[in-house]
Amino acid sequence: MKLDRRRSQILGQMGIAIWKSRLPSDNDLTQGDLNIEDEIEQIEEPISNEVVPRQFANLEEIASAVRSCRLCQLSHERKNAVPGTGNPTAEWMFVGEAPGQDEDLQGKPFVGRSGQLLNSMFAALGLTRDQVFIANVIKCRPPRNRDPSDDEVFQCTPYLKAQIAMIQPRVIVALGRISARLLLDAHEKTPISELRGDVHTYEKTGIPLVVTYHPAYLLRSPDQKRVAWQDLLLARSQMK
Ligand code: URA
Repeated sequence: MKLDRRRSQILGQMGIAIWKSRLPSDNDLTQGDLNIEDEIEQIEEPISNEVVPRQFANLEEIASAVRSCRLCQLSHERKNAVPGTGNPTAEWMFVGEAPGQDEDLQGKPFVGRSGQLLNSMFAALGLTRDQVFIANVIKCRPPRNRDPSDDEVFQCTPYLKAQIAMIQPRVIVALGRISARLLLDAHEKTPISELRGDVHTYEKTGIPLVVTYHPAYLLRSPDQKRVAWQDLLLARSQMK
């Protein structure tokens, strides 16, 4: 059964993921397509067209659902899924875009060069990684670090939304345009320069949300670090 896009969006906003069948339709099969490995895989992994409510008891349950997720193609190419790490009662939540190569290898967010800069940003705020929670919009690495597709974002978003709902941070910092557009439900072409500089609210939660540049962009454009620092101060002002 095909779910129309609008219904899918509404379900997604409610934190409900759609499980798509990975079985090709009979018409798509050519003789010899189904080998024995396929059959074994089909038996071992539940395949369903059902809508599965994503209700989780805690962050570890979300992480383990992410690690066994097969909702999009990226899951077949990853070395490790990267659910997110940090303090389950964090007051600060930082949301990046997607794991890169280092993160894919280690299964942890922001452990490469961007992560080193992010650590410095935390230090400037008087924070350590243990105090904050770090997550990404997409939990598996897109090949060659390309932008995630609409479908990948759509399938992965319920995990991030469940993490935010569980942690209930006092402030969210969206790192870069992909994260900012998703969390603010902004048009895909809205430039990040239009989204940063203001205190937004995440959905209807009342949680303040501040947008800043992605650390990878700041590594390429160090002159923007001053502006990013203003964004972080704006986020900090929400803690009073
Ligand atoms: N860039 C991101 O957006 N997230 C990571 O975890 C690493 C790099």
